[in-house]
Amino acid sequence: MRAVLIKNDKGPSENLYLGEVPTPTLRPTEVLIQIKAFGLNRMDISQREGHYPPPPGSSTILGVEFSGKITQLGTGTSRGWKVGDEVLGLAGGGAYAEYIAVNETHIIAKPSHLTWTEAASIPEVFLTAFLALVMIGQVKEDDNVLVHAGASGVGVAAIQLARVYGARSVTATTSNQDKINWLLGLPNGATHAANYKTEDFSAVVKQITGGKGADVVIDFVGKSHFNKNLDALAVDGRMTMLALLSGFVVDSVNLAPILLKRLHIEGSTLRSRSLEYQAALISRFSKEILSKITGESGDGPIRTYIHKVYPWTEIQAAHQEMEGNKNSGKIIAEVV
Ligand SMILES: NC(=O)c1ccc[n+]([C@@H]2O[C@H](COP(=O)([O-])OP(=O)(O)OC[C@H]3O[C@@H](n4cnc5c(N)ncnc54)[C@H](OP(=O)(O)O)[C@@H]3O)[C@@H](O)[C@H]2O)c1
Repeated sequence: MRAVLIKNDKGPSENLYLGEVPTPTLRPTEVLIQIKAFGLNRMDISQREGHYPPPPGSSTILGVEFSGKITQLGTGTSRGWKVGDEVLGLAGGGAYAEYIAVNETHIIAKPSHLTWTEAASIPEVFLTAFLALVMIGQVKEDDNVLVHAGASGVGVAAIQLARVYGARSVTATTSNQDKINWLLGLPNGATHAANYKTEDFSAVVKQITGGKGADVVIDFVGKSHFNKNLDALAVDGRMTMLALLSGFVVDSVNLAPILLKRLHIEGSTLRSRSLEYQAALISRFSKEILSKITGESGDGPIRTYIHKVYPWTEIQAAHQEMEGNKNSGKIIAEVV
């Protein structure tokens, strides 16, 4: 089969190329899927650069989310899947390819109102946002929520989920006015926004919440935002840390807010979770959230926002777009 490969196993986007590899063979509980579209994620860039190895047992090919059709069933599958079923799914790797083998617990029937590209834009970002905001962050009605990297794939998923769970305010941070306008203009988008380059987001959140602060913070930024996040959090506030985009080491921290405000700070990586954990998450998400998601032109309370769709023959350009922080929402590649 054809797959996107990396010349010298790692390097810049120019090292990506379409090559030939063996079609995956199935373990008993896996299904083989012919991929129609796959989503790009920030981690694909880290993996391409050699900084993020796939979890043990996963394909070394890039790509953790996809949509497509089942073409073969493993001998031990028992969940009623049929050849020809249209699905979307999550994987430890291997989605930048014509075919992928995944455990039958890691696919969801594709709702017929979603296109292949819309379906491929859902698994990684929505499962991550659901885990961070609902399962770890325990978001509830009337909470004030702060979502960093608001226009990222995960960010815009978290913003919409927070609104659906009845948040009183959802403040998004991002780097420029175009992204701010976009986030404030979405049907269930941010209620407030701050440009983290020119504004103190902690002061903005306090002003919006009458001094109370954010009950839930979703952070991807780490170092540069850490002290301001502690300041922005409300008493009994919860912060889920999903990435460290600005750096790993904070020069100086005042620990007092953690103690005095009884803060909960938890890190999470979806990709490193066990297959059983991921399967339970996928099952819960399918039951509680999937039916609320439509494409951008649909009328769902939650929508998929696709910045741009590339044919996978232009995978280098797709990676460059994401690396340049140009996207508002998801970048998707179609297997053609
Ligand atoms: N832990 C997990 O389980 C998990 C799972 C999936 C994704 N993630 C992480 O979630 C984040 C979003 O992923 P994605 O695929 O949705 O990303 P994405 O669409 O590529 O968006 C990432 C955005 O982060 C912002 N950013 C980049 N560097 C920054 C910095 N130094 N300071 C502040 N903002 C910065 C940029 O937007 P601005 O223009 O606003 O700066 C950029 O567009 C990534 O960091 C990814 O690694 C974690």
